[in-house]
Amino acid sequence: MSKEYARTLITSALPYANGPVHIGHLAGVYVPADIYARYLRLKGEEVLFIGGSDEHGVPIALKAKAEGISPQEVVDRYHTIIKKSFEDFGITFDIYSRTSSAIHHKTAADFFRKLYDKGEFIEKTSEQYYDEEAKQFLADRYITGTCPHCGNERAYGDQCEACGTSLSPLDLINPKSAVSGSIPVLKETKHWYLPLDKHEAWLKKWILEDHKEWKSNVYGQCKSWLDMGLQPRAVSRDLDWGISVPVEGAEGKVLYVWFDAPIGYISNTIEACSNNPVKYGDWEKWWKDESTKLVHFIGKDNIVFHCIVFPSMLKADGSYILPDNVPANEFLNLEGDKISTSRNWAVWLHEYLEEFPGKQDVLRYVLTANAPETKDNDFTWKDFQARNNNELVAIFGNFVNRALVLTHKYFDGKTPARGELTEYDRQTLAEFSQVKKELENYLDHYRFRDALKEAMNLARIGNKYLADTEPWKTAKTDMERTATVLNIALQITANLAIAFEPFLPFTSNKIKQLINKKEELKWNELGSVDILEAGHLINPPELLFEKIEDEAIEKQVQKLQDSKKANELKEHKAAPVKTDIAFDDFTKLDIRVGKVLECTKVPKADKLLQFKIDDGLGGRTILSGIAQHYQPEELVGKNVCFIANLAPRKIKGIESQGMILSAENADGTLAIVHPAREVQPGSEVK
Ligand code: MF3
Ligand code: ZN
Repeated sequence: MSKEYARTLITSALPYANGPVHIGHLAGVYVPADIYARYLRLKGEEVLFIGGSDEHGVPIALKAKAEGISPQEVVDRYHTIIKKSFEDFGITFDIYSRTSSAIHHKTAADFFRKLYDKGEFIEKTSEQYYDEEAKQFLADRYITGTCPHCGNERAYGDQCEACGTSLSPLDLINPKSAVSGSIPVLKETKHWYLPLDKHEAWLKKWILEDHKEWKSNVYGQCKSWLDMGLQPRAVSRDLDWGISVPVEGAEGKVLYVWFDAPIGYISNTIEACSNNPVKYGDWEKWWKDESTKLVHFIGKDNIVFHCIVFPSMLKADGSYILPDNVPANEFLNLEGDKISTSRNWAVWLHEYLEEFPGKQDVLRYVLTANAPETKDNDFTWKDFQARNNNELVAIFGNFVNRALVLTHKYFDGKTPARGELTEYDRQTLAEFSQVKKELENYLDHYRFRDALKEAMNLARIGNKYLADTEPWKTAKTDMERTATVLNIALQITANLAIAFEPFLPFTSNKIKQLINKKEELKWNELGSVDILEAGHLINPPELLFEKIEDEAIEKQVQKLQDSKKANELKEHKAAPVKTDIAFDDFTKLDIRVGKVLECTKVPKADKLLQFKIDDGLGGRTILSGIAQHYQPEELVGKNVCFIANLAPRKIKGIESQGMILSAENADGTLAIVHPAREVQPGSEVK
């Protein structure tokens, strides 16, 4: 761990291009990776930060089929959205490419071919599920069934999302094809396997002995995989979307998405280096030189692939380095519920950027302050608002604004010279001289939450300093003292621009612009009290953050509730049909159409409406329990259907002479049934 490296290659999990990116992705992977990349660059280190879309795999093929378009059209759509939203959010990938690119197809095929030629795979024929209607094998998510561990009836062939267990299609109880819905049969097929069991011994030493410093969630998961014993893993699939297996006799077979995707990190490196050889140099130095530090940023569901499978692939090739660390995060939940693309329970980045323009840093702040580094965490809109209003606005923004405003007010915007320091000044400076060391210690150990807290502490120090020294009061009597205080406040402000650059880059830029120090601040100036010389002119003040009002938050909460409702409706199953009745039984019911003459609320009954109905026979009164679903006025003059021969009943002292028919929606709302055309009151419904 204390090894000296010459450069750092940072990878971030390639998101599947079957949906946009949401806050779970950001908090788990991209925000921490970007903080790390920015931090190293600010220190002047050589960095390459890799991103890209993962464009193969069954979910993409299934989505294409459901929408009647090609898989390429699906990935084109989402790749474009994802790439743009990352850019607008300030994620500073050196390259954001994609696995459907020609360069990746070639790199992945060559990688497979080399391992194949070296005899690193085993070939095995086995029985797999086959859909005779759709005439295709059913791998991974092409097959669903009941999970043998938890009984979830919607488990997939590769994983049960309810209990998180990874599965193989043969584990499923009552398997069903996701393509045609038919029951699959077993059929023989040949595939290539990476014999992970052969890699077990070196993996055990490499992870369990040499990388005890890995995060405990990562180390623990690896240990439990290794303790269970590794099995050969298939690296090919019978599918028509993906990279063709580059050997004879492999028609209709493609590389398994989890074989090709991590090779995407390599392909994207090759692409970045060939696009910009002056800046990045030769790609091989990033992957084959022991002095490169390789770090994979991922979510916890990717741990086994990045700590066990991909390293085995790299080792099998023999010419690659292995990761120095894999700082995987746990999951972020949303308002107490698991984030889900298919259930639309998410805050989508591209929508956030539209609905909160210019507020990238607020989200970056909240996601880092609340990052799921050691356990799953929850994002709530209330917390988002509170952190913005109570921390960013009230502490950070307030401090910087006061420092700038007072400098303009008392010194015409010129940095005043520092005079003699008081004991309190010295204490304050001593406190913040530690910030650099502490920040580095946290950042070097991927503890971004703590690092952000430390950076925020600097703003707190500044805020407290101004509150305690009250330069607006000393200005009346002692200009020299006021000058010293504001000098220190401005130096702290400049320090904030450096300390926050990795976390809140937009804010940091704004501070630099306000203090008139564009692009000149480096990490090693952090802690210095001589960043702004006496006389240095600063720009007119502007607010760094603005308060977020309740309405904006309520709108977001409502949006989530709407999507939950829409989803409940989508997932609602119609009730099973009751037992058959004879035709004679049906004809006993006398259903009629009537016109509503009057409709009023029943006093002291919040559910009941009282109807006066023209039934063509002189009129009748009916009570109905739909007061929570209609305003009485909107029903007057409407035709309704009612049961005319239901024995009368007294409710709340009123006799109800029949029953008005209404349909109950999946969410419990009621809708009165109307005939589709105007009919005479009293008409029979048959
Ligand atoms: N697409 C995968 C996911 O979202 C991550 C792939 S990471 C890579 O879980 F290494 F394979 F690229
Ligand atoms: Zn399960």
